[in-house]
Amino acid sequence: MKPRTNPPLRGRIEVPGDKSISHRALMLAALAAGDSELTGLNVGHDVLATARAIGALGATVGVDAATTHATIRSPGAEGLTEPHDVIDAGNSGTTLRCLLGVAAGVEGVTVLTGDESLRGRPMLRVVAPLRQLGASIDGRDHGDRAPLAVRGGRLRGAEVEISVASAQVKTAVLLAGLRASATTTVISPGPSRDHTERMLRAAGGQVSGDGSSVSVEPGTLRPQRMRVPGDVSSAAFLAVAALLVEGSELTIEGVGLNPTRTALFDVLREMGARLEVQVTGEESGEPVGTIRASHSQLRGTEVDPRVIPFLIDEIPVLAVAASQADGTTSIAGAEELRIKESDRLAALSDSLSSLGAAVQERPDGLVIRGGTVLRGGEVDSAGDHRIALAMAVAGLVASGPLRVLGWGCVETSFPEFLDVLGETQGKGWKRS
Ligand code: S3P
Repeated sequence: MKPRTNPPLRGRIEVPGDKSISHRALMLAALAAGDSELTGLNVGHDVLATARAIGALGATVGVDAATTHATIRSPGAEGLTEPHDVIDAGNSGTTLRCLLGVAAGVEGVTVLTGDESLRGRPMLRVVAPLRQLGASIDGRDHGDRAPLAVRGGRLRGAEVEISVASAQVKTAVLLAGLRASATTTVISPGPSRDHTERMLRAAGGQVSGDGSSVSVEPGTLRPQRMRVPGDVSSAAFLAVAALLVEGSELTIEGVGLNPTRTALFDVLREMGARLEVQVTGEESGEPVGTIRASHSQLRGTEVDPRVIPFLIDEIPVLAVAASQADGTTSIAGAEELRIKESDRLAALSDSLSSLGAAVQERPDGLVIRGGTVLRGGEVDSAGDHRIALAMAVAGLVASGPLRVLGWGCVETSFPEFLDVLGETQGKGWKRS
């Protein structure tokens, strides 16, 4: 069996705005009194859920999806008000968890819910620390499952230990800390992505520490003026596709290259990838730059569990890369993947195995013996955008056509994926 010959990915492209940064830019804008302006906003369903949510809390939000431009007029943290209705975060864990921190500082009751997948995800990790700051929060399963009702208002500063190294949880506590009576410190069991710290500092927030211990002082923020960089997690799908499809040579520009998000590229280089990552500038404290990826023969590797937090969202596409590498790749320490938009370890094991890959599922990871020519057929996205997109990359190197069932979930983060891919494959791509 031979892989079909797919057109190589070539030229220079950009990807939609970073989802993590877009959520934060909107929330920080809501916490600042005055007019904020964002360009390059991610306009997938998740970020639009955040835009609606801050609107429900009293900000005036306009998002133009065609130009990715957003304007936010807010009365500031002190002027936000009890929403008239339940806030629906849809599929978005970042919206629900981080917004709990905002709602904790708003007088009155805010009720937050989400779709079936989100209502099944654990929330006590963020509810418990916010309770320590004085917020009263209740919900299903003693506050571990949405719908959740927050009675917010006056908060006290405290040193709060969180149970998982989660940026969503850290962010919720830091945003609540802006409204507390004294310093708030978050102690995490390990480091996690640090967009919130960088963006708070850029907006005039007083944040100290980094890695596992971060403190914030109560205070106000300046309105946001930001061009949101391209999403490195979306770029990852195209970069891996370029590594796998013969003849590819792809440049992705304007991508956010925050070091807490780029471990995938270090791992791929260890696997023999011809991949260059170059920081060329900065935007609101976030490094921005260019990724160049060329077709490469990869070899298997053992991924260091310590870097897992820095490539957690890229494991689906890394698993596809591993299925095409010579030798075995093992990924351990990634049990958090079981409680993302789907159980990603099970979804990857099922989908890649059904295409003929040799995958062993472990409680906290995967072991993938590479070198298989994947066959086409049908795979299920499990309603999870990162599984759907990883399977699309698998489809580029499969021996027959691959149909991804439930493709619509890509609306979450990267609705433009097929257009951008088409651009790189010759349908209108710009020659470098
Ligand atoms: C995110 C943090 C990560 C990540 C998610 C987005 C964020 O989750 O998986 O896609 O924007 O803070 P955890 O914070 O739960 O690790």
